[in-house]
Amino acid sequence: MENEKGASSSTFKMGNSAQERSLPYVPDCYAVPPSYEPRDALDSKSESVPTIDISRLKGSDDERRGVIQEIRLACQSFGFFQIVNHGIDQSILDDALAVAKGFFELPAKEKNKFMSNDVYAPVRYTTSLKDGLDKTQFWRIFLKHYAHPLHRWIHLWPQNPPEYREKIGKFCEEVRILSLEIMGAITESLGLGRDYMSSRMSENGMQVMAVNCYPPCPDPKTALGLPPHSDYSCITILLQNLTGLEIFDLTAHGGSGRWVHVPEVKGVLKVHIGDHVEVLSNGLYKSVIHKVTLNEEKTRISLASLHSLGMDDKMSVPCQLVNDENPVRYRESSFNDFLGFLVKNDISQGDRFIDTLRIKD
Ligand code: OGA
Ligand code: NI
Repeated sequence: MENEKGASSSTFKMGNSAQERSLPYVPDCYAVPPSYEPRDALDSKSESVPTIDISRLKGSDDERRGVIQEIRLACQSFGFFQIVNHGIDQSILDDALAVAKGFFELPAKEKNKFMSNDVYAPVRYTTSLKDGLDKTQFWRIFLKHYAHPLHRWIHLWPQNPPEYREKIGKFCEEVRILSLEIMGAITESLGLGRDYMSSRMSENGMQVMAVNCYPPCPDPKTALGLPPHSDYSCITILLQNLTGLEIFDLTAHGGSGRWVHVPEVKGVLKVHIGDHVEVLSNGLYKSVIHKVTLNEEKTRISLASLHSLGMDDKMSVPCQLVNDENPVRYRESSFNDFLGFLVKNDISQGDRFIDTLRIKD
């Protein structure tokens, strides 16, 4: 029976969503409008995704310069790259994915302790984007929590599965160290020096961990796990157990763009340039638009670690990147400003924070 097929978004609130109940059909309010995919179809040539061996950041000056150049090119063309030889043990990645999966397998009663629709809550468990509120619903269940400084937040995290705090905590710490290294390389690639952001990011910087679960979907062509969006962060570091991530290559097809499927290779981490690095670069680097597609058989888990400045610390365009040809292109903003935006806008309909920051010529 498909008696809820035509029901509205509010029917599928947290606890009652189609993805939590494994409905055997996709309700209409999960159907992604055609306007979402106005651009070119998927390009399956995955070799076009840049992959960078970042162990060379610790090598000779020449090696480091080589990596910085690769990062610069990747940030300019895609706003995205994959990293290999990042130094995080495979067992840490495997354990984090396994314990995250374990969390979603717990009985509803256990998970619902964290249920919240308050975007300001430091730990919250919910569905879709803004559960039951957005016009279009997404086939996602997620837990989002703050992760830095760890000692300030970890006691608020789930205690079940019993190893959740330890395994996710370890992953968060390692990824954070990596994020500082990559941010140093990014600011160096912009000519700002490797320490340009380091004190602001390491002392008060925020780390928000999005632990995402995308259950099998009976009709993966109709619904999405996440709609096209960019992250507000400086950078996001992502770990996934299965493919599903697609990024939008703005430069393809003479500027009309195309979707690129990101392959899954064990141990590889993905780096997204977020809105705040677009601002930091005065538009030279673009925050990557990405989306999550679904599959019919398997549960996809991803861990997205979002790294940004402190809650009220404003990102602005550095004066070194401003001259007569390059006026300031973005207004300053903070993570808190982003949360305000999130409350008032509907990302499911394509609203983007970065668009509110652009200064028109
Ligand atoms: C996100 C995101 C991608 C994924 O959480 O912002 O884009 O693969 N996640 O789950
Ligand atoms: Ni994202």
